[in-house]
Amino acid sequence: MPRTAIVTGGGTGIGRAIARRLAADGLDVVITGRRKQVLEETAEELGVRAVAFDASDVAAIEAALPALPGRVDVLVNNAGGNIFRQRPTPAEGDLAGLRDLWAAQLEANLLSAVLVTSALTPRLSHGGRVISIGSIAGARGSGPGGSYGAAKAALHSWTGDLAFELGGQGITVNAIAPGYIEDTEFFGDDGPPAERRAALIGQAANGRPGRPEEIADTVAFLASTEAGNITAQVIHVNGGAFRGR
Ligand SMILES: NC(=O)c1ccc[n+]([C@@H]2O[C@H](COP(=O)([O-])OP(=O)(O)OC[C@H]3O[C@@H](n4cnc5c(N)ncnc54)[C@H](OP(=O)(O)O)[C@@H]3O)[C@@H](O)[C@H]2O)c1
Repeated sequence: MPRTAIVTGGGTGIGRAIARRLAADGLDVVITGRRKQVLEETAEELGVRAVAFDASDVAAIEAALPALPGRVDVLVNNAGGNIFRQRPTPAEGDLAGLRDLWAAQLEANLLSAVLVTSALTPRLSHGGRVISIGSIAGARGSGPGGSYGAAKAALHSWTGDLAFELGGQGITVNAIAPGYIEDTEFFGDDGPPAERRAALIGQAANGRPGRPEEIADTVAFLASTEAGNITAQVIHVNGGAFRGR
């Protein structure tokens, strides 16, 4: 029987590349996300299954459970992104707006992973894998406002604690922290402005952006039997833009 994988946010960008790679490795893959049409188009192209739900909404997760695999060998918590880019910056003194922004950021990048993983923990197989997509921002900060980096830092910390909760069942729990990755919707349809893009690339030792497939390759390794003794780690994949420690 093939191993099963669930990739949240698998309709686009990094998640889509992860789903493609795991399917090519012979896993039975389910991708999830909020936009049904985007998901279904990707699922058809990759030959995987789509289940649409909002990973930060408890009722939506519970409603989706019957459609998700009964045994989960690999769970990839990839859904997320910088809410800060999708909303106007709250005006100075707008505490309610600031609260909403931070809550949305934590929901998108932390609670999505915590809730989906908790819902699926009873289905994780012995020797299973939980892999969450963090960010370089979780280690280095995310610039003005700081909410995205703070949410990813919390995801990294939770990863370490969950590894101890699930370690007795032979399950490994790790995070991958990408640097700047192109060909995703993270910076919107057109990517970052040219100056910002050049600055991001300029931070890397290899002078180039990362590719979604390189994160997928790292997921594939962590999902393999060879990676059975790697757990509670944050693996940095960033061309040298941050020296992981
Ligand atoms: N691109 C980068 O440079 C970079 C760098 C470091 C880390 N990351 C992280 O990598 C992960 C993937 O992002 P990406 O770069 O591939 O950008 P992306 O193309 O925007 O992918 C994010 C995916 O997550 C889904 N998603 C977001 N919120 C969701 C929710 N509440 N419930 C279900 N699905 C949700 C989106 O689909 P729907 O909108 O349809 O739900 C989308 O398919 C994110 O966690 C991001 O923070 C990206």
